[in-house]
Amino acid sequence: MGTFVTFEGIDGCGKSTQIKLIVAALRELGANCVCLREPGGTAISEKIRALLLDPQNMEMRPEAELLLYEASRAQLVRQVIEPALKTDSVVLCDRYFDSTFAYQAAARGLSEDVVRTANELGSCGFVPDVTIVFDLDVEVALQRATRGGADRLEAEGVEFQRRVREGYVRAAELEPDRILLVDADGTPEQVFGRLVETLSLALPMLNSLDVASFLSRQADLERVMADIALSLSEDAQDA
Ligand code: TYD
Repeated sequence: MGTFVTFEGIDGCGKSTQIKLIVAALRELGANCVCLREPGGTAISEKIRALLLDPQNMEMRPEAELLLYEASRAQLVRQVIEPALKTDSVVLCDRYFDSTFAYQAAARGLSEDVVRTANELGSCGFVPDVTIVFDLDVEVALQRATRGGADRLEAEGVEFQRRVREGYVRAAELEPDRILLVDADGTPEQVFGRLVETLSLALPMLNSLDVASFLSRQADLERVMADIALSLSEDAQDA
């Protein structure tokens, strides 16, 4: 049986950089990693993603948005996550159903019960073994997130992101064994150190990682990022 790890946080929390680093580290330790992102990760899910993130789709209603996220997820779970978990892979997913709890319930205002029920359906009952929430001040995160131009959700602004953050904190309070907060304030290297420490509870192989030496070997961080971004999109195409 594989291990299912999901990563969460408000827009601009630095999640993508950390996922790329942890994948590089796990692969170096010999783990078989499957890297995915939501919404997306299959051909059908990527089409749904384009609909969801298109800034022109401002008229999209919360219920339609919820169901599109769940449709994208169900396809990803059945087509990719379920088969991968039957092997000894580490499945790492950039966002999963806690995003729906934070964005569609806490921030958008849909009822928690409705979102929980929808999440059960969309996830086909697959619950992560561990979920990391990168926790960061909203203003700092939003500055980072909108540097390259805002997508439809990022364009919602500070108040929306504040509610998203509160949603994550609430989710972590409800499920403290599964959902672990990592302080995302600091340099990528500092945050990575915290991530490895937290994640080693679920992935004990990380205990043997020499973080300082690993990071020093990532001297050309940009190149590593580009390589992994490439393999992420290849994973999506293979799916
Ligand atoms: P993306 O550009 O992938 O953002 P990030 O790099 O921050 O993950 O866009 C995904 C957006 O979709 C992000 O704003 C969060 C939002 N989202 C939801 O609102 N509900 C969900 O269930 C999921 C998975 C994502």
